[in-house]
Amino acid sequence: MSRTRKQSASRQAGRPQPRGAPAGDAVGAGPPRESQDGRESPGGRVRSLDKRAAPGAPSDRFKEAARSQFDDWAVWYDRTILNELVFFPSIRACQEELARWKLGRTPAPYRVLDVGCGTGSLLALLSRDPAAESLVGLDFSREMLRGAAGKFALLPASERLFAVNGDAERLPFVDGAFDFLTCCNSFHHYPHQQRALCEFRRVLRPGGRLVLIDGFRDNLLGYVIFEIGVKLAERHIRHARAAELRAMLRNAGFASVTQRKLNVLAPLLVNVAAA
Ligand SMILES: C[S@@+](CC[C@H](N)C(=O)[O-])C[C@H]1O[C@@H](n2cnc3c(N)ncnc32)[C@H](O)[C@@H]1O
Repeated sequence: MSRTRKQSASRQAGRPQPRGAPAGDAVGAGPPRESQDGRESPGGRVRSLDKRAAPGAPSDRFKEAARSQFDDWAVWYDRTILNELVFFPSIRACQEELARWKLGRTPAPYRVLDVGCGTGSLLALLSRDPAAESLVGLDFSREMLRGAAGKFALLPASERLFAVNGDAERLPFVDGAFDFLTCCNSFHHYPHQQRALCEFRRVLRPGGRLVLIDGFRDNLLGYVIFEIGVKLAERHIRHARAAELRAMLRNAGFASVTQRKLNVLAPLLVNVAAA
């Protein structure tokens, strides 16, 4: 962890901040990031984001539960059996969707945002493509982000990888900053899911692509796993039904929404949509 540098404010994918929103904080894996005003600010502190919502609000408790759960989980997250069952299949699905999206466009550099990136495994893999000019992982849990930053620092592409501490419902990026946005196994932790989707849509440029993967709860097995098992274990979560998610995606302004089921034993729902 000594390699990990804490720096104030992210590089914001190379762009200035929108709407005066507070910047997400970067847990650095590469060179010093630029601050909001474009100057480098090495050695800054990772600021708390707790002040953003009214203290004690139910959604605060919802988010705090997720944050503390993942802060505790971070050390052994990459070694859990859930990697085989859930996380690796999600990563593969995102890679496939990215390849499909790239096929349909003129080759050009692109920018990726992974919301709820956890320990950064997906972005670490996606960084092998030199056309991915900037890969930003955002997460609410600083300990998960430290895992991501540690991983990023060891990679040849570390200059293009960024770990940003922030909230999925209030993304610290300008409109249209990204071409490809992924969100895997994190969405059920968001108390305001429609708001998060509107944020996803906002930070994607027109023609950009969203891949959103989360537990599929619409069959018996999925219901037992996610609505009973996971809910008992994690409490403050909500897995939306497929139809509900489709409607939320359209409300957020996404088009060409497709959904498919992935996995048998731990069923997941893969949502792909165009911005
Ligand atoms: C199960 S992990 C998934 C990590 C990674 N996407 C994967 O598939 O392996 C869920 C992640 O979502 C993050 N998370 C939960 N609520 C969040 C929020 N409101 N904003 C950003 N990240 C959040 C957690 O901190 C955690 O790292």
